[in-house]
Amino acid sequence: MSTLLQVQNLTKTYHDGVTEFVAIRQVDLSLQAGAFAALSGPSGCGKTTLLNIIGCIEVPDGGAVSFEGETVPFDKMTVLDKFRRENVELVFQEFNLGSDGL
Ligand SMILES: Nc1ncnc2c1ncn2[C@@H]1O[C@H](COP(=O)(O)OP(=O)(O)OP(=O)(O)O)[C@@H](O)[C@H]1O
Ligand SMILES: [Mg+2]
Repeated sequence: MSTLLQVQNLTKTYHDGVTEFVAIRQVDLSLQAGAFAALSGPSGCGKTTLLNIIGCIEVPDGGAVSFEGETVPFDKMTVLDKFRRENVELVFQEFNLGSDGL
């Protein structure tokens, strides 16, 4: 099997103006095409942050993500939008789209 997803040295820190929150630090992982993976860990350990970055809806402070050898262009927002549309599917835990009370 070939490598579908490669995550290298991924880091993300949030700031609230006073305090820094290191959400993920130097994360490495790789997934083979066709693999099924589950990410688990205690609340606040950075699962959502990591998945949002892999899903190309958040930008890391450092490190890299690649799909089939193509590096995700986190430094170019318009290219990132196109890359996400063409490569990633996300199903959110919360239903975020508006509705008419349905
Ligand atoms: N937008 C944000 N601003 C500031 N801190 C944030 C933000 N998003 C996440 N964090 C912090 O980053 C850390 C990781 O959060 P994250 O939501 O990725 O964890 P999680 O593993 O998904 O948690 P849970 O299991 O509760 O969903 C936590 O300390 C959280 O408080
Ligand atoms: Mg979460």
